[in-house]
Amino acid sequence: MNYRIGVVTSGGDAPGMNACVRAIVKGARQKDILVVGIRYGALGLLRNAEADFIEINNLDVANVIDQSGTFLKTARNRQVYEYLSRLEYVQALGIQAKDLLGREVGRKLLGDLAMKAIDGHKLNGLILIGGDTTCRAALAINETSNDRIPMVVIPATIDNDVWGTKQTLGFESAVSAAVRAVDAIRSSASSHGRIFIVEVMGRKHGFIAQSVGLACGAEEVFTPERECRQKELDELAARLIQGRNTGRESAVIIIAEGVDTSEWRTTRHKHDTRIDNPSVALKAEIESRINDWEVRFAILGHLQRGAPPTPYTRLLASRLGVTAVDYIYDLLRNPKSVKPKLLGVTGRDGFKLCRIQGDMIRESKKEMLDQYEIFTRLSY
Ligand code: F6P
Repeated sequence: MNYRIGVVTSGGDAPGMNACVRAIVKGARQKDILVVGIRYGALGLLRNAEADFIEINNLDVANVIDQSGTFLKTARNRQVYEYLSRLEYVQALGIQAKDLLGREVGRKLLGDLAMKAIDGHKLNGLILIGGDTTCRAALAINETSNDRIPMVVIPATIDNDVWGTKQTLGFESAVSAAVRAVDAIRSSASSHGRIFIVEVMGRKHGFIAQSVGLACGAEEVFTPERECRQKELDELAARLIQGRNTGRESAVIIIAEGVDTSEWRTTRHKHDTRIDNPSVALKAEIESRINDWEVRFAILGHLQRGAPPTPYTRLLASRLGVTAVDYIYDLLRNPKSVKPKLLGVTGRDGFKLCRIQGDMIRESKKEMLDQYEIFTRLSY
């Protein structure tokens, strides 16, 4: 093989990551590139343990196209911080590891450690599959590599919150899994005449909640982007009662896990961990306003992250993987200085490489409010 490139899956796992690694491995082999899988995400890259750098061949990626999760494993930021905080160098700095990345010294450390691993394993390029923190890691590595190592980030997170791409890998599968679950819950809610609150993932953004709400014909959706105080809760209760008076026996409400409930009457504050999830708090809020209507809740949690990749996700993963390989291959054959790029999805089939900037979080407020407006026209 002429070249060696690394591939790493980083941050929260997302359906389609395995299909994407498969496409990278197979696409690369055709171009005479050997793919080295780096296990445990950014943690594996920085830790640089021999066992976490594995050469992957076509057989290794047989039968993974339909598998959720990531066979390369991944790690969260906090595990990276924990690792960094144990380094003598970091202890001598007297800086909390979690504050390192915002500082030049931290980015340099990350870049130096990563480049030591990249050079040590003779990697000529790197494909990173992950979300906005993965983009920031690519930038930090590039500060040390000084545009020498071609890097491309494939946006993958169920949250769909990465700037520069219309859709992230995994989002559609997570929504599909949540929709299937809510459909099942709705049929039970309808049989028993209950109000059902379903909590979906999305700590900072409501893309999943809003899409699920619309796709399931829910009666209400709460997202972190839309204000929800006493007034909105009173309005919800009034609408539910009005619906009941006109014959509606059940209702489904979708709430994102990141909705701010700090101003709700029944929400615990700080010391009471019994009402930790917004769905639990919302149940109490509704019960405090409506009598004689049973309210239940369900928290879908990681069944969304571990959802089986849908056919569309697999197609997207395959195309993204091959496109990323071709981009790196061209650069390896015609070397030039390059900044890390994000391979964004522009439509159902189109991709666009864009430059990675400091903050790659997608601005979602306007989009969510627009989607909510459409939702309200159909919700009752
Ligand atoms: O990866 C995105 C995400 O699923 C968010 O929607 C969610 O808030 C978070 O990850 C949960 O992360 P963890 O499993 O690490 O607690």
